[in-house]
Amino acid sequence: MVRQDELRATFRGEFGAEPRVCRAPGRVNLIGEHTDYNDGFVLPAALDLATWVAAAPRADRMLRVRSLRQDGVASFDLDEPDPQPRRDWTDYVRGVAVMLERSGVRLRGADLLIASDVPIGAGLSSSAALEVSVGFALLDLTGIVVDRTELALRCQQAENEFVGMRCGIMDQFIACHGAAAHALLLDCRSLEFRLVPIDPTVRLVICNSMVHHAHAGGEYNLRRMECERGVALLAPLLPGIRALRDVSVEQLAAHGDALPPLTLRRCRHIVTENDRVLRAAAALEAGAVAAFGALMNDSHRSMRDDYEISCAELDVLVELAWRTEGVLGARMTGGGFGGCTVSLVRADAVERFRASVGAGYRAATGIAPDIFVAVPGEGVGAVAD
Ligand code: GLA
Repeated sequence: MVRQDELRATFRGEFGAEPRVCRAPGRVNLIGEHTDYNDGFVLPAALDLATWVAAAPRADRMLRVRSLRQDGVASFDLDEPDPQPRRDWTDYVRGVAVMLERSGVRLRGADLLIASDVPIGAGLSSSAALEVSVGFALLDLTGIVVDRTELALRCQQAENEFVGMRCGIMDQFIACHGAAAHALLLDCRSLEFRLVPIDPTVRLVICNSMVHHAHAGGEYNLRRMECERGVALLAPLLPGIRALRDVSVEQLAAHGDALPPLTLRRCRHIVTENDRVLRAAAALEAGAVAAFGALMNDSHRSMRDDYEISCAELDVLVELAWRTEGVLGARMTGGGFGGCTVSLVRADAVERFRASVGAGYRAATGIAPDIFVAVPGEGVGAVAD
């Protein structure tokens, strides 16, 4: 865990000023994968793992940024007329500053020191935690009251237009609006949301496969294109649809032969997943944790077989979880092709889960997984001095 006193001391040593500290969480998605960019539904929870930004204002319009994970200080001039990405992690920082300014905010220059507990590239949304924590810190230093939904949108825009990853809104939104002990049901079209309490008798256990597949970004954008193709082919048959969100399970079953087989499978994942999210949120609200778990299992099969975003290691972790007593459901979580699984485990079965899934995964793959209980935490905010 990042130690705030160390972060402050390092900042004073590096930049010679007393910083404000802000933090934004990573997230685990309980169900609703790749539905966000189809105007659909998601049910993520913010984590207690976070990215921390120590920040102090400057008299000029420079941003100077250092990360505890990297060497060197990067500098940017907020007045540079045509800022271009450098194709490294600093693009997330600069992209957010650029989009905030484009939205009409005039930021103060700032020195920033960044540290993070969120593992990178593990499907726990380290990039959104970075974007949102930096965006919040820059607005905070400038004295602007943060509109959380607006901040989420500007951070998504930074990732779409400056970094070049066509992500949806889920990760930035939960980093802004998460609440302790709750998951959040989000309608990604209207951005209306509802907090759903997590049943106190269960735990969310995350297993990091430690596998990080290259080219995940390219595959991600390809999945988006297949969804768009599906909408274009279905639109003449289902007038008025704008996104796969508008297509019901029954409609897709009736008109599926209008789609090439691969497009049909991709669309089937999205359409059935949207339906599962709504049923899962209702189950969680009703305390029906077994029904919730069964929907998580269906979601995993759909991602594995129809959307094809799982990988061998994630399937091993999920199958080990399915076979462990006290597990109500398990699925891969996040963008896919590596990263983490999330399992819904009865509170009294967590230690057994840890031992049996850990040993089973090591035996099957030779890799030691990182297994931990997720504690749903708060969205972005400033930390008391
Ligand atoms: C990544 C993206 C999100 C979402 C998920 C998949 O985390 O950033 O917008 O699409 O993948 O559900």
